[in-house]
Amino acid sequence: MAKTLITAALPYANGPVHIGHLAGVYIPADIYARFQRLMGEEVLFVCGSDEHGVPITMRARKEGITPQDVVNRYHTIIGNSFADLGISFDVYSRTSSAIHKEMAQEFFKNLLDKGVFEEIKSEQYYDAQEQQFLADRYILGTCPKCSNPDAYGDQCEKCGSTLSPSELLSPRSALSGTPPQLKETTNWYLPLGQIQESFLNDWINSKTNWKSNVLGQCKSWLNDGLKSRAMTRDLDWGIPVPVPNAEGKVLYVWFEAPIGYISATKEKLPEDWQSWWTGDSKLIHFIGKDNIVFHCIIFPAMLHLRGDDYVVPTQVPANEFLNLEGQKISTSRNWAVWLNEYLEELPNRKDELRFVLTSIAPETKDSEFTWKDFQTRVNSELVGILGNFANRVMVLMHKYYTGSVPTVEFFESYLIGKTAASLLGKENFVPTSNNRFLYENYIAPVKQLISEYRFRDAQFSLMELARLGNKYLADLEPWKLIKSDEKATAFIMRQSCDLLLNLATIMEPFMPEASKRLMKQLGVEDSRTLQQQCWIDNEWLSLTDGHCLNSAELLFQKIEDDIVEAQIQKLNASLIANSTSAFTVGDVNEKLVGSNAAETVISSIEDSPEDIKPLIEFPDFAKIDLRVGTVIACEKVEKADKLLKLTVELGEREPRTIVSGIALHFSPEEVIGNQVVVVANLAPRKMRGIESQGMILMAEDATGKLVFVSPKSMVIAGSGVS
Ligand code: 2FM
Ligand code: ZN
Repeated sequence: MAKTLITAALPYANGPVHIGHLAGVYIPADIYARFQRLMGEEVLFVCGSDEHGVPITMRARKEGITPQDVVNRYHTIIGNSFADLGISFDVYSRTSSAIHKEMAQEFFKNLLDKGVFEEIKSEQYYDAQEQQFLADRYILGTCPKCSNPDAYGDQCEKCGSTLSPSELLSPRSALSGTPPQLKETTNWYLPLGQIQESFLNDWINSKTNWKSNVLGQCKSWLNDGLKSRAMTRDLDWGIPVPVPNAEGKVLYVWFEAPIGYISATKEKLPEDWQSWWTGDSKLIHFIGKDNIVFHCIIFPAMLHLRGDDYVVPTQVPANEFLNLEGQKISTSRNWAVWLNEYLEELPNRKDELRFVLTSIAPETKDSEFTWKDFQTRVNSELVGILGNFANRVMVLMHKYYTGSVPTVEFFESYLIGKTAASLLGKENFVPTSNNRFLYENYIAPVKQLISEYRFRDAQFSLMELARLGNKYLADLEPWKLIKSDEKATAFIMRQSCDLLLNLATIMEPFMPEASKRLMKQLGVEDSRTLQQQCWIDNEWLSLTDGHCLNSAELLFQKIEDDIVEAQIQKLNASLIANSTSAFTVGDVNEKLVGSNAAETVISSIEDSPEDIKPLIEFPDFAKIDLRVGTVIACEKVEKADKLLKLTVELGEREPRTIVSGIALHFSPEEVIGNQVVVVANLAPRKMRGIESQGMILMAEDATGKLVFVSPKSMVIAGSGVS
């Protein structure tokens, strides 16, 4: 039997995982892995933490701790929360492990010895003060396209241009703020152009069954022509380049991270790992769209060049992105629903999250999560349809038959297949093949769709079975029929029980806990035989006569408004309370940049309006960045009676200058030392020749006296306000 090795992108251990990661990568991967196992395939499902790269060092720098501290913390948080959500990895490894170091170095050495790499000298930016080469993200400068003074070495956040550090005007180091020097360095490059000709073009063109979004990106890279790419970097955090005299150089994180899949396999199966990476083993990478080039071009090129019978990916079902309440999910802006927090706050709602995220999975285009939609889907589908059907069946079975499956007579006109045929508009229903008809129309499509990586449709299809059950009961009303025809009622209930059993079985990959709970209620705790019949033998399942059900319990609970409102409140608060620093940690992906270094901004106090202004929507409010600052200096502005010039510490590189019209209310001495709330992203404005870089919020107290809006207790300068 061919092996199926399923990988899920190694999450960066620089923060917890969020719902975007889950919807795009981990839930689909888990559904697929569970499905393949149930189908009797030999499956290994691997993942682990990606613990090197700039996102980690940026987080460490921001928090004033070591990169190892950062990854230790998040590796544990991420691993535990995956397990808690039922993501069924066979191994959750990490790239700072000794096994991985050895594997990655061996892989590099192997390619080096084969003469694969080009050794290229180049000039790279170097921070003399910090004595280190600068990763692209650590170089700031003026964007040559839009003049944004805070563009990154690889991208300008303002105009979206992709840049290289050498294009930046007036470059400066984000570490020391000093202009970097160009310094010569040697690195090892993968000659992707050559590999494109010898392998990648033909290989990608042969992948006719890959998703169009994936092929589209691959072909666009190939059409542009691939260039050699450095596989080593001058950094101090990473896996040392295993070559003499290569001190200060580490393997490029995108060279070694995918090798993490191999190391994870070896960690799990020290004796047998090779058989998963060679021969006719199928390799399937679940990833987000920002990882496509690395999994479809660079890693396959590495595996191909390595030879030794290594496999290349069979399929790469990459997804698009999930947005949250109308905005891009952002780690740096804390605009996310974090899995670890969700699990703490809603511990009994795991399958609800899996269900909703699968319903809205960004399979073909970006999609959107909102808490209201979450509530609606749970209440109307899981509670209203699936849970409702299960509960009706269980309650009636106990009421009429004390939970024991009755022996029944056959009633052709009460077959579920008949209701199904009318729902499906199919006229060819043959009563004697009721069970086959149900299998073909309700179970087979779920399997087929999962095997095509169409998890959204597969889950929809599974809900069709629950809908059928509800319709069947609603049409035949056994609770009325029991009064006039007990035998027919028994037949209907028997059919319903069987439907519920099939439902409980087929929902396992999607909602494993709910499936288990339902199986328990149905009295089939060891369901292996039934699983075999459903998944492998392609049968419609049926309970045996006299089988005893356990007691009925509600399968899902309604999500009340207060739960959702609390989550929305939390999100609103976190948006404005996102932390600030000289520069913020970029969002997860090494090759993408994070949020910009907000620096300049201003203002003065304006007249406060008496009337409430027209309503605004939350996204308008969310644009305002409120921060707590401490006034560290204050003086009068010459020739301006009303104005004070304040110096406010916001936890950034430089304190800000803010001109405020409060001189008639406060002396400079009264202002110094106060904590104030600042609108930190107001466009700068010149007042009396002074650039004001923010606005201080004021209010009138009960006596009409002007007071600072400020936190009750001391908070750290730069904290957001909620
Ligand atoms: O984008 C990311 O989150 C990367 N850490 C994914 C790495 S996947 C693999 F190559 F390890
Ligand atoms: Zn720009």
